[in-house]
Amino acid sequence: FKNLRDGFLSSVPSTQEFKEAASFDVSKDESTVSITVVGASGDLAKKKIFPALFALYYEVIWWQHFTIFGYARSKMTDAELRNMVSKTLACRIDKRENCGEKIDQFLKRCFYHSGQYDSQENFAELDKKLKEQEGGRVSNRLFYLSIPPNIFIDAVKCTSSSASSGIGWTRVIVEKPFGRDSDSSAALTKALKQYLEEDQIFRIDHYLGKELVENLSVLRFSNLIFEPLWSRQYIRNVQLIFSEDFGTEGRGGYFDNYGILRDIMQNHLLQILALFAMETPVSLDAEDIRNEKVKVLRSMRPLQLEDVVVGQYKSHTKGGVAYPAYIDDNTVPKGSLTPTFAAAALFIDNARWDGVPFLMKAGKALHKKRVQFRHVPGNLYNQNFETDLDQATNELIIRVQPDEAIDLKINNKVPGLGMRLDHSNLNLHYAARYSKEIPDAYERLLLDAIEGERRLFIRSDELDAAWALFTPVLKELEEKNIIPEYYPYGSRGPVGAHYLAARYNVRWG
Ligand code: NDP
Ligand code: BG6
Repeated sequence: FKNLRDGFLSSVPSTQEFKEAASFDVSKDESTVSITVVGASGDLAKKKIFPALFALYYEVIWWQHFTIFGYARSKMTDAELRNMVSKTLACRIDKRENCGEKIDQFLKRCFYHSGQYDSQENFAELDKKLKEQEGGRVSNRLFYLSIPPNIFIDAVKCTSSSASSGIGWTRVIVEKPFGRDSDSSAALTKALKQYLEEDQIFRIDHYLGKELVENLSVLRFSNLIFEPLWSRQYIRNVQLIFSEDFGTEGRGGYFDNYGILRDIMQNHLLQILALFAMETPVSLDAEDIRNEKVKVLRSMRPLQLEDVVVGQYKSHTKGGVAYPAYIDDNTVPKGSLTPTFAAAALFIDNARWDGVPFLMKAGKALHKKRVQFRHVPGNLYNQNFETDLDQATNELIIRVQPDEAIDLKINNKVPGLGMRLDHSNLNLHYAARYSKEIPDAYERLLLDAIEGERRLFIRSDELDAAWALFTPVLKELEEKNIIPEYYPYGSRGPVGAHYLAARYNVRWG
């Protein structure tokens, strides 16, 4: 079954192929899969996890014997959980067709148990209910910890008491944040390993499940026109831009303890950078890929304070609408200096990338991801451009979201008798090219966790290497009480980001 999905060069199987492969699996193996969403009453569970489980149920496969349990402190009956879940299933499938019957079948597999996260007794009750559903078959259990990080360890301790008994597997998906610096992350890893083996821990970074991030390695390693250029010789700088057009609405309490560097850069953007910059892995095996990611992360210089610009959004009125400042959020402490925006320049000290700035920008108000190729030296046509900015520069822009696309900016002659050049785009717009909707990142990652495929999950040494890059600067920012540059809600962010890029002769895309 896995071979159907894997392999850069294998074609994507049809739904029918998936179903046939899955049913083949089932007939061979009378095992059960139970998925327990711990923190089922929460935002992530409703917004992402239950819809992703339903999409998998609908679209891809499902085991003949599977059960989904919600677990949280809130009191709910099975019927109430089903009601809650049914309201969240406005998934991509719904857009295409009426899936009422499938929803009903799916909901019948959903159950709920209310309990504390630190109660062995409550988890033992859950275990009893799981066993009833498993009906004595080989039980495979996946626990998704969709809870605040301060209760991860209690919950892991208890989930290990309701681990699969016998020959089935038990896996635990842990949501970010994985600590807030090197020490707290190491402590979390150590605590998790008291109860679980490393190969049972699935640290999720949902950006790794996004289609275009998955495609990055395919683009690089299966296209001869890119791979030879993928180095300091031809790439002048790499930009990774994350932008959101909304603030921390509703999540200010969480966010204030972390800030944008921990929330986005140290994980989502750094993971993309690692995939972008790693050497060719020995194989597509999870360990080979993760070995290369660790190597490139360990070749990076820890981020320096002078290479970071931080910002925080302030209130702004536009079109008669008043947008609040970050600190207007009731859950954010008064006078908080937590950055909601950051720009940073990172460097990889290895032969491939020596001297190439990797510029990251993350905040709430920008929107594009871009890879910019180095100027072609001594270009014959420099004088023929209408402006002298970025003459003859090729750019590869990978737009992860929204409106997934890959654009390659080329130089082109403007039609006519003269010799004028301009930039044009060769583009691959997913919506135009593929009629099939793009699965949500959580669908891919849940399926991988169920199949035991670890390639898109973060290994503990990767995490250590990632924190080693960011911990010193985070400490310095906090100890020195660095005041963020304030930028209006909905703007392009603080001007300091432009000065930072200019220092490295780069303009943001
Ligand atoms: P929530 O704040 O909604 O918490 C989930 C559930 O945990 C709640 O419904 C509540 O359930 C329980 N809970 C909340 N606070 C506490 C507490 N202080 N003590 C004990 N239990 C508590 O979190 P999210 O669903 O937003 O996120 C879950 C995890 O996923 C977090 O680690 C978050 O960082 C991560 N994450 C979330 C994203 C999102 O978009 N929401 C995106 C990426 C990661 P009950 O009271 O019923 O027990
Ligand atoms: C989460 C961050 O990991 O990713 C959020 O905690 C952010 O702050 C979210 O909004 C963005 O995810 P996506 O998939 O909507 O780009």
